[in-house]
Amino acid sequence: MIYLDNNATTPVDPEVSDAMFSCLKRDFGNPSSSHLLGKKAKEVIENSREIIANFLGCRRDEIYFTSGGTESNNLSLIGIALYHKKGHIITSAIEHPSVINTCLHLESLGFDVTYAPVDGEGIVKLDEVRQSIRKNTILISVMHSNNETGVIQPVEEISALAKEHGITFHVDAAQSIGKMHFSLAGSPVDLMTVVSHKFYGPKGIGALYVKNGTNLKPILFGAGHEMGLRPGTENVSGIAGLGKACEIAKRDIKLRVSHTTHLRDMLFNSLRSNIPDIKLNGHETKRLPNTLNIRIPGLTSIDLVENIKDQVAASTGSACHSGKQSPSSVLKNMGLSDAEALSSIRLSVGKDNTEEEIKKAVETITNAVNEMNKKPAAKKPVCQ
Ligand SMILES: Cc1ncc(COP(=O)(O)O)c(C=O)c1O
Repeated sequence: MIYLDNNATTPVDPEVSDAMFSCLKRDFGNPSSSHLLGKKAKEVIENSREIIANFLGCRRDEIYFTSGGTESNNLSLIGIALYHKKGHIITSAIEHPSVINTCLHLESLGFDVTYAPVDGEGIVKLDEVRQSIRKNTILISVMHSNNETGVIQPVEEISALAKEHGITFHVDAAQSIGKMHFSLAGSPVDLMTVVSHKFYGPKGIGALYVKNGTNLKPILFGAGHEMGLRPGTENVSGIAGLGKACEIAKRDIKLRVSHTTHLRDMLFNSLRSNIPDIKLNGHETKRLPNTLNIRIPGLTSIDLVENIKDQVAASTGSACHSGKQSPSSVLKNMGLSDAEALSSIRLSVGKDNTEEEIKKAVETITNAVNEMNKKPAAKKPVCQ
């Protein structure tokens, strides 16, 4: 199996699992306990917080542990909304469902939300964000890079805009951290989502960066963990794993960027020479080094993914609703037709892929496409 689905999740790095395993075996105490085992567990947490802060370029007391990206996004949006009690929020039309559905929830509670559109290359339109700003805008939330296309968003410009108007700015950096060079140092971002399992850490753990002085309310209530913002006994081994993943990312990021860029481009160029109709979805250069989203005219990508699933792990951005495939809303927002979106496939390479694997994946995909072209197209895309 050649794993080309690293934007869905990444394999846990062996250095990470070693760190977690020794923590599970040795440091099992409750970090809130005053005895030695409690103190040891607390040390693990604080040590990880330090490593993460150092990796991201912020202060350690600006890092709050959560259960992952969905929670960090919910805490950012709902936490700011609860603090202000009413107001207007700006986000983009291509955010992850953990942002879009939180915004829909906030709309149902009386908040106003603007969903800024993107251009044909998947980049949020800065002018639309600028024009959407109102006197009562309390938050702008835009992702650093898109999970389907890998397109990197103009967060620098948007954060400058937010700062100019005194608006809190949240960035969902789930897909960018550990995949590209990244630092918060000197940046006007107020809140940032960190997701461990997207860069070789474990699932079920993440963090939220909260710039000192940012006002937000908790969304969970309990004891006073995580400086009162996120109660619940800490996932100590997960935190140890996230810390280790950050340490490795800091050490290896240069190599990771050059390796994944090379493999991604090799994948695209080889596929394009075998299947000349292939088109790239998204911006050619403003893109994560590891992400390739392509459309193959005349094909249904769900069928392609199904046909190659025992050899190559890939994904489509489409969703299954009542047995019918609905096209990716990210691609639709970029102006693709239903047929174009339904013929699109995402291939996301990782640090452990090899050139040999890419050659094999190209062969598998090319053979599958040729076979599918010989047969008449399925009447309806099937999904379960
Ligand atoms: C951009 C983005 N934000 C948030 C999330 C949610 O992360 P999690 O599933 O760990 O809660 C994901 C996961 O796919 C993502 O890609």
